[in-house]
Amino acid sequence: MQKLKLGIIFGGMSTENEVSCVSGVSIIKNLNKEKYDIYPVYIDKNGEWFEVLNLEENEKRGEELEDKNPISNVMEFLKSLDVVFPVLHGLYGEDGTIQGVFELLKVPYVGCGVLASSVGMDKVYSKIIFNKAGINQAKYVYLRKYNEDYIFIDEAFNEKILKLEELSNIVCDKLKFPMFVKPSNSGSSVGISKVSDKEELNDAIVEASKFDRKILIEEGIVGREVECAVLGNEDVISSCVGEIKAADEFYSYDAKYNNQESKTLIPAEISEEKAEEIRKLAVKAFKAIDGKGLSRVDFFVEEGTEKVYINEINTLPGFTSISMYPKLFGEIGIVYEELLDRLIELAL
Ligand SMILES: Nc1ncnc2c1ncn2[C@@H]1O[C@H](COP(=O)(O)OP(=O)(O)O)[C@@H](O)[C@H]1O
Ligand SMILES: [Mg+2]
Repeated sequence: MQKLKLGIIFGGMSTENEVSCVSGVSIIKNLNKEKYDIYPVYIDKNGEWFEVLNLEENEKRGEELEDKNPISNVMEFLKSLDVVFPVLHGLYGEDGTIQGVFELLKVPYVGCGVLASSVGMDKVYSKIIFNKAGINQAKYVYLRKYNEDYIFIDEAFNEKILKLEELSNIVCDKLKFPMFVKPSNSGSSVGISKVSDKEELNDAIVEASKFDRKILIEEGIVGREVECAVLGNEDVISSCVGEIKAADEFYSYDAKYNNQESKTLIPAEISEEKAEEIRKLAVKAFKAIDGKGLSRVDFFVEEGTEKVYINEINTLPGFTSISMYPKLFGEIGIVYEELLDRLIELAL
């Protein structure tokens, strides 16, 4: 059998460049070299593309990758491949932009298409779709930065320009503390704050607006944080449900990547019925955004009421050998290497 020419693209122009490199290297190591001719591709933070040589020896992170050649004609390079796996998190990778390039070039690629990727990356638009799908979620307010002021946008998309002070009064009327303030296009918790009073709320809005002009403010849910992985195009399967035990006030950037005290629990400490409910909701959310290939869907299970709330969908979740996505499928017997084979088959 002819080997498939497979491009593994990692790095990228987002705050998650380093994480993506770890995922990319992990994938390359685990792929079956009998089946695939692997072309490792690194995109640096400025958007320059490189073909990485001798990855095995050179197996370091992002900027330390020394043995690499610039790709002068990215389009031609991509067209020479049979299939690509964009292992990119965040902006310009998980948001539909690079997926659009693959579509234009007619190169098959792993994972969600343009629409699902961009909806999944945008927390406000994800919420609008989840709402339409009848999936329970935290109450929220949507706003946009507008010069020195803000635009409050209601559920019917009516807009009102407000000063920060007027805006936070409205938010306080609509939502209860604690609240989470998030840039709509964020990842790895960058720009996200948990706030417990109006002063903190004002500061958090200013902070979030540094990362995106669209801002989402949500009521905080007290309870367990759980995650479920999905795989498939039309026939979508879901994994076991896992749980996050964040070492911080919430699962912040630091708690995710620096604090060794953050733990994951597989399976989550919830009843089998709850887990089944979450698995169904994960598939529903994935279908609702028109997902393809893979996603990890994150939820809260509220303390006391045991009500399930969807938090977000990640169309290109972390993919290191210790990441939730592969571990959740590993738990139901789909090992890392098989998971990669299946994703590539789905792409083709
Ligand atoms: N409404 C909420 N209630 C409780 N915790 C939340 C809420 N929203 C976010 N968090 C906490 O903040 C973390 C990051 O928020 P999230 O929306 O998942 O952003 P990211 O895309 O950066 O992962 C979550 O993992 C969770 O710990
Ligand atoms: Mg998250």
